[in-house]
Amino acid sequence: MKENGLRVLVAGGAGFIGSNFIRYLLGARGDWKIVNVDKLTYAGNLANLEDVEGDDRYRFHRADICDAERIDAIVKEEEPDAIVNFAAETHVDRSIDDPALFLRTNILGTQVLLEAARKNGVARFLQISTDEVYGSLGPSGQFSEGSPLRPNSPYAASKTGADLLVRAYYKTYGLPAIITRCSNNYGPYQFPEKIIPFFVTLLQGNKPVPVYGDGMNVRDWIHVDDHSRAVEAVLLRGRPGEVYNVGGGNERTNIEITKLLLAAMGKPESLLKFVPDRPGHDRRYAIDDAKIRGELGVVPRVPFEEGIRATVRWYLENEPWWRAVQSGEYRSFYDRWYSRKGRA
Ligand code: NAD
Ligand code: TYD
Repeated sequence: MKENGLRVLVAGGAGFIGSNFIRYLLGARGDWKIVNVDKLTYAGNLANLEDVEGDDRYRFHRADICDAERIDAIVKEEEPDAIVNFAAETHVDRSIDDPALFLRTNILGTQVLLEAARKNGVARFLQISTDEVYGSLGPSGQFSEGSPLRPNSPYAASKTGADLLVRAYYKTYGLPAIITRCSNNYGPYQFPEKIIPFFVTLLQGNKPVPVYGDGMNVRDWIHVDDHSRAVEAVLLRGRPGEVYNVGGGNERTNIEITKLLLAAMGKPESLLKFVPDRPGHDRRYAIDDAKIRGELGVVPRVPFEEGIRATVRWYLENEPWWRAVQSGEYRSFYDRWYSRKGRA
C-alpha cells in the first residue's frame, strides 16, 4: 500500500479505539486524510475528537454502517484508498441482553462496508476483530492465527461472523482484505462500562467495584496506542487475505487489575467486591503475536504498569469527560457539532 497521501475511511471512529487511532494517524501522518463514519450510538462520542475537529485533513459523517445506500454514497464521495472498520457493538454484557443488535451491526454492517469497498474498488479493507473469536484458554497455551474459532458470547460470535465474511470477500471477489485480532485495550476515552474506566470512576466516588466470579479470569492487556501502531503497520504492509494477532504480552487476572487500580488511586482493598459471574465468562485470553512481530516488526512499546498509571491519571484529570458520559450530556455534543458545521 502506498504511504503518501493516503485517504482512510475509519468506520466507528468516534468510539474508544477508533478515536485514538484517528488522533494517532493525524499526528503521525501529515499528508493523510481521514474520513470518520460513525452512527454515534451510546458508545460514539464526538467529544473524543474535539481536539482534531478543526483539522482540515479530517471529516466526519454521521451514518449507520448497516445503511447500504448511504455507505455506498459516502465511499463514492470520499474515494478512500482504505477502509478500516472499528464500528461495532462491543460490550459482552450488553450482547447477553440484546444479541440481535450485535448481529445486525457487527455482521450485516461489516457486509455493507465490504460490499461498498468491492463495488468502488477500495484498495484495502482492514477489519478490526478481537481475540475473543478464539474462545477461552485453560491455564496454558496461546491463541495463534490458526487457532479454531470458538466464540462463547453473542458479541464474540458476531465478530466471528464478520471475520468469516471478510474471508469470503477475499476468496470470492479478491477484495484485498486483512483481519487483525487484538487483545483487551486500555487507555484514554474508553467508555466507562469496560472494567478499567468503570472501576476508576467508581473508586473516585469511593464506591465498591464489582469483580465477577472468583476474579481469576485472565486478559492480555495492550495500550490503545500500541494497537493503533499495529493497525497502521498492517494497513501499510500486511498481506491481503491474512489474519494478524495483536497482543500486549501483559496477562493479568481481574483481581490483579483491580488491586493495581486501588493502589494507583490510594483506595483500600475493602472496596473490592465479588459479585455473581458473567454467564459464559471466558477464563483466559493470551495472544501469540509472533506473526506480526516477525513479518511486520510490530512490538508493543508501552510498559504495562506505566500505561495503567498514566491511564488512571488521564481519567482523574478528565473527570468532566466521563461525568458527561455518565449523565448522558455527551449526546448533545453532536447537536453542537452539527450547528457549527451545518452538515450531517
Ligand atoms: P466502542 O464501543 O468504544 O466504539 C464503537 C464505535 O462504533 C462507536 O463510536 C459507535 O458509535 C460505533 N458504531 C456502533 N454501531 C455502529 C453502526 N451501526 N454504524 C456506525 N457506527 C457504529 O468500541 P471500541 O472498544 O473502540 O472497539 C472498536 C473495535 O475494536 C470493535 O470492532 C471491537 O470489536 C474491536 N476490539 C476492541 C477491543 C477492546 O478491548 N476494546 C479489543 C479488540 C478488538
Ligand atoms: P470487559 O472490560 O467487559 O472486557 P471483555 O469482556 O471484552 O474482556 O471485561 C474485562 C474483564 O473484567 C472480564 O473478565 C470481565 C471482568 N469484569 C468484571 O469483573 N467486572 C465488571 O464490572 C466488568 C465490566 C468486567
